[in-house]
Amino acid sequence: MTVRIPAHGQPVDQVLAELAAMRQTDTDWKGGRVFSLVYHAGEEHARLLERAHAMYASGNLLNPMAFQSLRRMEAEVTQAAAALFHGPPSTVGALTSGGTESILVAVAALRDRARRKRPWIRRPVIVAPRTIHPAFDKAAHYYGVTLRKVDVDADMRVDVAAMARAICRRTIALAASAPQYAHGVIDPIEAVGELAVRHRLPLHVDACIGGFALPWVERLGRPVPPWDFRVPGVTSISADLHKYAYAGKGASLLLWRSMADMRHQFFIATDFPGGIYASPTMIGTRPGGPVAAAWAALHGLGEDGFLRLTRDTLETADKIRAGVAAIPGLKVVGDSFGTVVAWGAAPGGPDVFAVADRLEARGWSIDRGQHPATVHLTCTANHKAIADRYLADVAAAVAEVVADPSLAKSGSAAMYGMMAKVPVRGMVAYSVRKVLEAMYAPGVIVPDLEATAGDGVVGKVLERVGPHLDRALDGVAALRARLRRAS
Ligand SMILES: Cc1ncc(COP(=O)(O)O)c(C=O)c1O
Repeated sequence: MTVRIPAHGQPVDQVLAELAAMRQTDTDWKGGRVFSLVYHAGEEHARLLERAHAMYASGNLLNPMAFQSLRRMEAEVTQAAAALFHGPPSTVGALTSGGTESILVAVAALRDRARRKRPWIRRPVIVAPRTIHPAFDKAAHYYGVTLRKVDVDADMRVDVAAMARAICRRTIALAASAPQYAHGVIDPIEAVGELAVRHRLPLHVDACIGGFALPWVERLGRPVPPWDFRVPGVTSISADLHKYAYAGKGASLLLWRSMADMRHQFFIATDFPGGIYASPTMIGTRPGGPVAAAWAALHGLGEDGFLRLTRDTLETADKIRAGVAAIPGLKVVGDSFGTVVAWGAAPGGPDVFAVADRLEARGWSIDRGQHPATVHLTCTANHKAIADRYLADVAAAVAEVVADPSLAKSGSAAMYGMMAKVPVRGMVAYSVRKVLEAMYAPGVIVPDLEATAGDGVVGKVLERVGPHLDRALDGVAALRARLRRAS
């Protein structure tokens, strides 16, 4: 270990200069080169967020009596969102640190609700589409819940009949997305809501992406299928402020139709020598900065600001969708609600992961999807200026891969391709765990991830199996088809 806290405090300018220098290796998100990690609404708005955050950087919402200002902001943001999502007057909720925390809290509360109401259930099940965000897998893993995933239709919407079939005596809740991350597709929430009502199950709608986008898309006159509290079966909604509400990072909302449901999320420890401890969400200390920045974002933008940003975003996403569809060999995947774009290869088209590599070589930060192989873009108004550049680069990247199909067998394309196909998912998880172990190994600051990915027994097996994998998988598929015909 070579890094130590400096023996003597350094001058402010020096510390800040070092921080600024470290940013040089980050992707140019202000320039629109990143698509899902950052939601940037321009310099003026960014300054507002920074100042609001700084004003409350030391504030702690763990004690709402000591920080009545922060509690007031939390209540106001929650109530504004409840109105936006057409919640009844009974709607309640709390701020969390992000979409994952909102979902973790929702799943923990749904489990505890079931423990109260149906204590005989030992192994609770939540039924959700296979496109649901992995925060649900994480929650299921942490809280001993089985996440039963059902397939989606060709249009990437959950198959409601399959969902109905997946419900069993141990089912404690249903979940669906508005929209899901991968393709921006909204599940048929109305139909899922009917199912929930029929089976008397709570329904959580994951609107982490859509919560602060869909209401404006609807107001701009585009068709948006019902997804919010207007749907009778919907009992809770997660909606991220740090996505399309253009808040600073670290802010999301979990809303409930009523306190009868929300009460299960409260945690109280009565015997702590430090005093009675009550906490509404997952974390203990609740940082004030993100709360203030979220409040500032809603007030700084206002309805007209959100409508302007949404109009620009939709225009940009439409342009990128049309541009990609016009490139021979590519196609748009999924019927997105608007601001999210996913594209993949048309039949006979180029290897998507190889095209993604060529785009990264041109300075884009690319989000790759699997089953099917896709490139994902969460567009924002900030991408308006780069849409033409992006399309030109996609066309050039496709041309390169068409000219040299061997690019699919090298670089990260080979690795992503194989990872998506390997049927033994435990092997994939093992390899990825190795990468994380390398990243967090003692003394490491900048790990050589590419070297690690191919490391170890599994890496070697994958390397060997890779070239034969397609043939082997085709063989398995043919055998399955033959068995189906025979039966
Ligand atoms: C649909 C959906 N749900 C949940 C999440 C998790 O949000 P976070 O990354 O803020 O924890 C995401 C993140 O992209 C998402 O797209």
